Amino acid sequence: MLRLSLLLATGLLVLTAAAQDKPKIKQVPPSRTDPASGQQMFRAYCSPCHGLLGTGDGPAAPALKNKPVNLTQLSVRNGGKFPALKVYNTIQGDTMVPAHGSKDMPVWGDVFRSMTRNEAEAKMRINNLTRYVESIQGGK
Ligand code: HEC
Repeated sequence: MLRLSLLLATGLLVLTAAAQDKPKIKQVPPSRTDPASGQQMFRAYCSPCHGLLGTGDGPAAPALKNKPVNLTQLSVRNGGKFPALKVYNTIQGDTMVPAHGSKDMPVWGDVFRSMTRNEAEAKMRINNLTRYVESIQGGK
C-alpha cells in the first residue's frame, strides 16, 4: 500500500520483475507525453495497470489489491452511454476509486499539474484521456 501511495503521488511506474516474485511497482517521475495525444498518454500512464488495450490486464495488475477495471466496457456497464464526467473525475482524482486515491491521496490531476504547472494543460490532458477511453469502448 505504501508503494502504491508513492506511485500515485508521483505518477508512473516500472516493474522490477524477479522471476519468482509478484511484480513490484516502483515509482519513477512521469515521462513527458504529448498532451494532445490521449493514446500516447494512455500507453504511458494507464496501460501498466489497465493494459495496452484497456481491458484491465496490464503487467502491474497482479501487484494490485483491486483488479484494474476493463475500461472498454464502461459504456456497456452504463446502459450504453459513455460516463464521460465520471471518467474525467476519476482520472482527475475527484471520485473515490480506491486505487486512484481519495481526497487525501489525489492522483493524475495533481500529477499533471505538477508536471506542467499549467492548469489548462492539465485539464487538456484529462480531457484527451477521457476521449481516448471513450474511443476504445467495445460492444456498443
Ligand atoms: C496503479 C494502477 C493503475 C493505474 C496506473 C491507472 N489505473 Fe485506473 N484503475 C485502477 C484500479 C485498480 C481501478 C479499480 C478501482 C476499484 O477497485 O474500484 C481503476 C479504475 C479506473 C476507472 C474507473 C472505472 C469505473 O468502473 O468507473 C477509470 C475510468 C480509470 N481507472 C481510468 C484510468 C486512466 C485513464 C488511467 C491513466 C491516466 C488509469 N486509470 C491509471 C488502477 C490503475
